Parts: sequence; structure tokens; C-alpha cells
Amino acid sequence: MYFSVPVRGILEDMNEKTLSFPDGFFWGTASASHQIEGHQHNNWSEWENSSKRLEELKRKHLNPADFTSELAANSWEHLDDDIACIKKLNNNAYRFSVEWSRIEPREGVFDQAAIEKYHHFIKRLKAEGIEPFVTLWHWTNPVWLTNGWENPKVIDYFARFTETFVRACPEVKFWITINEPQVITSKSYLAAAWPPQKMNPFAYLRVLNNLVKAHCQAFKKIKAINGEAKVGIAHHQVCFEGAGGPINRLMENVADWWVNRWFLNQIKGCQDFIGVNYYFHNVINYFRIGHKNRPPVSDMDWELFPEGLYRGLRDLKAYGLPLYITEHGLADEKDAHRAWYIKESLRFVKQAMDEGVDVRGYFHWSLLDNLEWSDGLLKKFGLYAINRTTWERLPRPSAAVYAEIAKTNRI
Ligand code: BGC
Repeated sequence: MYFSVPVRGILEDMNEKTLSFPDGFFWGTASASHQIEGHQHNNWSEWENSSKRLEELKRKHLNPADFTSELAANSWEHLDDDIACIKKLNNNAYRFSVEWSRIEPREGVFDQAAIEKYHHFIKRLKAEGIEPFVTLWHWTNPVWLTNGWENPKVIDYFARFTETFVRACPEVKFWITINEPQVITSKSYLAAAWPPQKMNPFAYLRVLNNLVKAHCQAFKKIKAINGEAKVGIAHHQVCFEGAGGPINRLMENVADWWVNRWFLNQIKGCQDFIGVNYYFHNVINYFRIGHKNRPPVSDMDWELFPEGLYRGLRDLKAYGLPLYITEHGLADEKDAHRAWYIKESLRFVKQAMDEGVDVRGYFHWSLLDNLEWSDGLLKKFGLYAINRTTWERLPRPSAAVYAEIAKTNRI
């Protein structure tokens, strides 16, 4: 739920001032293994190459080469280049995910070389003064996981994978067990858009419940291994707005409860912080929910609505936990809005902090142009573009703006 605020007043006030963030505030970017690494063999890569998916692309006159994770940003071969980019941004943190299918390519068989490669990357980040925020599951499964997250055994499988990886990386302080449970489940089991492309509310609820249990079990495992570790999820916070009238107001509250609070309520007691991912300003008109597209919009046609982040942070204060903005960004190939959007959103973050919301970090999505899931490689979320022949990382102008913010700790 949110309350309306005299936005213009706040903005005018804020625009005039330099705003400083507290010492130790984390400035970072975020990414996910399937979207940047390339060289994957998981349920998504199988889906990308399935005849069903290829026919769908053909029907839409789309080129399959633009919709494959085959090489993505080729980060698996360019981890040092990624660190160089992070350093150029003056960031003191980086959120990335590890690929379960790489670490456990066969059921119960762990690939020590893959674990070591991630561990080395983590140690390199630490040595550079960059705090790793490690996501254990950002939506892709090993191919041996029959029925994916519908399989009740997934809870124990995920616990075993978590235990193995967490033991191998004692340096990691911040663990994010799962990314956006509400998004992956609704796209995969209600909208039939992502693998396994089902439209089945029962499967949707089963998977959500398995994710709740898997998170709680993983939370306990991590804490048992490293009592100092901080564990949470990356939660997708949506700014809902009813289209008018009492019924839509009611629908807005229901959507807010289900999308923004249900999962967090289920895992109460099993989280040290909340990771907040914010992208959407959605309008609800009875049973129809749509993204608002009032300008300015991103290349995804999503409204850029900085105030929505403020509203979300203020609502999440009720949980009494530290908040990290684990994702916030936009597809903007021409870099027309990115610098403005970052700065304006940070003004609202600061406003929330000044009102007592405990925000401790901001991670921009994303470091690099990457595979935007079923929207493929054509949507450019990166502070860095990629030369897909040389794999050179090329900063967009907004990268310098973000680097300055991170360096000075202020906007
Ligand atoms: C996801 C990312 C995705 C981003 C932009 C978030 O929901 O965690 O994987 O690329 O949004 O759509």
C-alpha cells in the first residue's frame, strides 16, 4: 500500500541540493549468470534451442541469433574485464549469480573447477575492495532437475547445492538465495511465456510454496555454516495504481498484498535483509494489469517512474529489516534517460532514507548489455555496451555519471 505525496515539492527541494549518502553505502551493479556468462547448458538454453521456441521466433519473424544465451556477454571468458568495468565505476559492491547447472552438472556431482572459478572471482573482487553479493538462484535450473521447481525434491537439492557452494566460499558475507520468486513463477506458470510455458495456477502455487521452503532451508544452512553471513532474497517490488473508483482501489490493495508482500510474509524470520528490485509502475483496471507507459519510457516501453521506488521503500520499512536496492535500471540503447533516471531515483532513495528507511546500498541493473530473457539481446540494459566481435566493454556516457556518484558518495 502507498500514500500519495506532494511529489513536485519534494523534487524541487531535492533538485537544489547536493545529497550525501552515508559512509559505507554500497554502490554496485547487478547481473545474472545466464544473462551474461554464455556457454550454458541449463533448462533455459534447452528451451532456447527447442523446436517450439524456434518456431515461435520464426512466426514472429525474429532472428534466433538475437535470442540465444549461447555467448551472451561472454563473461565466463571475460571475468577480468568485468572486474575492470566495476573498478572504473568506482563501485564497492557487485551482485552476480552463480550458475547451479555449472556447479552441479549432474545430480549430486559437483564440478570443482567451476566452483573454484567462481571462488577465484569472489576473492579477486574482495581484493579490489568490491563486496560480492552472491545470488544462488537467478531462474535457471540444471537439466537433471526433472519438472523444475514443481518437483518437491527441489527443496533438498537446492539445500545441498547451497551448502556445497557456501562452504567453498567463506569470504562471502551477503547471500541472496533466490531472485524475484513472483516474477519467475508468474511468467513461467501463469503467462506461459517462459519455460516450461505453462498456464496452470496450481503449478504456480506449488512452485511458489517450494520456493518459500527452499529459501528457508537455504537460510538455515547458510547461517549454520557462517553465522556472520547476511541472507535475503531479491524481491520484485511493483508500484500499483488503481485506475480509479473503489473497486480498483480494492484491487490495488489485493495486488499489492499478493505481489509485494505475500512471499516476504511467508519467509518472515528467515531473512536478514530485503533486496529490492524495482522496475514497474502498473495500473490496475478491474482484472487487467498493465505497465504504465506515460513518457519517459524505456526501450521496453516501461514508464520510468522514480517515485515508485520511494513508495516501495517506504512500504517495506514495515519489515524492520535493512534494505538493499538489488536491481534498478532500464533498457536504453541510446542512453537517453539512464543518467537522469539513476539520479532522480537516488534522490527519492535519499528522501526515503531521510524519513527513516534503512537503505544500505544501490545496485544498478546492469553492468553490461545482456540477454534480457525471452526479449533476447536486443534490449540494452548495460552501463557498458558490448562489441560482440572483440567482446570489448564500451562505457555508455551514463557510466561516467554513475562512477562519479559512487566516487563522491553523493548526487
Ligand atoms: C530480473 C532481471 C531482468 C531485469 C530486467 C529483473 O526482473 O531479475 O533478470 O533482466 O528484471 O527485466
